Amino acid sequence: SCISQAPTCNNVEKSPNELPKARFWEAMDICQWEGFWFEPGLVKPAITFRSTFQARDDDVLLASTPKTGTTWLKALSLCIMHQNQEHDILTMENPHFHVPTIESTIYSTKPQKSDLYDASAPRLVHTHLPHAVLPDSVKNSACKIVYIARNPKDTLISMWHFFNSIFRPNQEPFPLEKAVDCFCAGVYQYGPFFEHVVEYWQESQKRPEKILFLKYEELKTDPKGQVCKIAEFLGRPFGSEEEAEDVVQRCCLERLKNLEVNKSGSILFNVPNTSYFRKGEVGDWKNYLTPEMEDKINQTSRIKLHPFGLFF
Ligand code: A3P
Repeated sequence: SCISQAPTCNNVEKSPNELPKARFWEAMDICQWEGFWFEPGLVKPAITFRSTFQARDDDVLLASTPKTGTTWLKALSLCIMHQNQEHDILTMENPHFHVPTIESTIYSTKPQKSDLYDASAPRLVHTHLPHAVLPDSVKNSACKIVYIARNPKDTLISMWHFFNSIFRPNQEPFPLEKAVDCFCAGVYQYGPFFEHVVEYWQESQKRPEKILFLKYEELKTDPKGQVCKIAEFLGRPFGSEEEAEDVVQRCCLERLKNLEVNKSGSILFNVPNTSYFRKGEVGDWKNYLTPEMEDKINQTSRIKLHPFGLFF
């Protein structure tokens, strides 16, 4: 496979040491590359991915900014792509194992467990990278992209829980007010949220046959309809309504959360598999954000998302 070749780094790029830096949540250094923030260890893998990845026409690339439903999309896409197989792939490993996030696994300096190296076509991979830095071969081949977005307030609350569980497991949570400021300023791993969503949205409008733009909220209200849409987009329509319903059931949060493979262990660095599954509700932000915090996010959304008719 073309990505089994040893990746080479592009020396023309700045090294992470020369990039603008910030501290995220008093816990982690991040640096700004191509307008987005990354932990420094991800910049080289991202550059290598961009300059060496050779997409195949039948590849499927899932994309998202963190905490918008990535795990769910990975699970659903796996079931859709493996429709005719007898075994239930979701019971074998966590979805992040089967569908690696490419910049933090394959091209990482600390490669994680992944079977992508010998994956037989069609390959299913994921990225959190913004659209602008995707490899040309992804943009120019027939490979399909499925993007999942979520409303900013639930994304922020989901992220707040997630990072609290990772960085401050036995401590007070990071002050939510500061987390809101961080989110609005976009200064966190893979931020800013708003530009990430808008870039993919605009591309999906230009090339609807190439990029399918999904919303977490629509997946919640009409899972079967949305799952059929994904399957058709990927050229794998279901034979019957029951098949689509079966995929929805197999990927529901309660089921995934309770599968043995997701109750322990860790696929990526120190992120426990359990931390990918929490509440999965629309509007959970109402339980956390004060009117002032809500206002701050609304103001940013009004400027950045409203012009595109997104999440307002
Ligand atoms: P909450 O924190 O709001 O519960 P990501 O996978 O991009 O990290 O996103 C995580 C969010 O998706 C979490 O949201 C998590 O609970 C939710 N989630 C994970 N699996 C899901 C599923 N099968 N169905 C619906 N939501 C899911």
